[in-house]
Amino acid sequence: MKLNSLIFFISIGISQVDYQSEIQPIFYDKCSGCHTSGGSSGGLDLTSYSTLMAGGNSGASIIPGDHQNSLLWKRINDGSMPPSSNDVIPSKVELVKKWINEGALANPPSANNPPETFNWLSAEKDTIKISPSNLSSKYALAWTESKDPDGDKINYILYAKIGNNPYEIVEDTSAQKIELFYQDFLDNVFENSTSKTEIVQFTIDATDNKDTVRISGNDRIVYLDRTDYLSIDKQVYPKSYALYANFPNPFNPITQIRFDLPVMTNVDLVIYNMLGQKVKTFKIPNASAGNHLITWNATNDLGNSVSAGVYLYQLQAEEFVKTKKMILLK
Ligand code: HEC
Repeated sequence: MKLNSLIFFISIGISQVDYQSEIQPIFYDKCSGCHTSGGSSGGLDLTSYSTLMAGGNSGASIIPGDHQNSLLWKRINDGSMPPSSNDVIPSKVELVKKWINEGALANPPSANNPPETFNWLSAEKDTIKISPSNLSSKYALAWTESKDPDGDKINYILYAKIGNNPYEIVEDTSAQKIELFYQDFLDNVFENSTSKTEIVQFTIDATDNKDTVRISGNDRIVYLDRTDYLSIDKQVYPKSYALYANFPNPFNPITQIRFDLPVMTNVDLVIYNMLGQKVKTFKIPNASAGNHLITWNATNDLGNSVSAGVYLYQLQAEEFVKTKKMILLK
């Protein structure tokens, strides 16, 4: 293809003839004197798009997409309209032809503009060491806004690529920030992995649902290391709640009470006498998951020694309650 024909090809590809600004003025100028509303010549009113498309005495004047069978184009092309010598100039005849062949629309379909380019705000590289105690920590990815020239709503689609696997969609958001829990990395990145480390990289697309733009700059790369998590995982997390027998028992005046928590929870360990009265309360807000040990020296909440006898100790966690008996001998 020669360069000039290529340019022509491109230009007809992108420019659409606009009825309001390019076609209607020709009719106002050359035709509306006779083809006006009310008593139009040939029954054809050329003062508006709708009356033009309604046609005249011979029927349709315009056949969208087919200039050769459009009566209006035939009559201006053969010079019979206007009847005077005041003919429509050839370039305007061409324009009408083009407009008909493009579908004879009232408004050209408006072209969509893609969202504008945008950039990362997060560091290019990061390392995360995952341990049992930081699973609720978050890793944040942030980026600048991608505006849409047409004012369309922008959505951001986050893709992650684990190792050499293909990119996968992680999240779709209208915000300019996404936070991922370390727990999410553990569950998703290490899902099918036996290794202690993995590399995950992120990229983002901004879309107006018609066009999509990829974020500028390199992928954000996160090195994940779960060595700490694996090394103490089993010891730190008991599988279930447990309240153990105190030791020693019977005792005088000191005994130790052990219990296990599988998750972090608020805990009260309450000691009652045989009348059901509270003697002593140990409050542990946000007790960590794991094994716990409480030492009781047989004093009440006021610090006074209690008398010999049978006592009950009760573990009250958010989702678990258990009571056991112990004997203070004097
Ligand atoms: C001086 C008056 C006059 C002007 C100006 C004029 N026309 Fe006409 N036109 C007529 C008359 C009268 C008829 C009906 C007789 C005929 O079909 O020749 C007609 C008929 C037509 C018809 C056929 C309608 C039908 O359905 O039968 C078309 C199409 C048409 N004109 C288009 C145009 C266009 C487009 C222009 C402007 C570029 C134009 N005319 C300018 C007087 C005019």
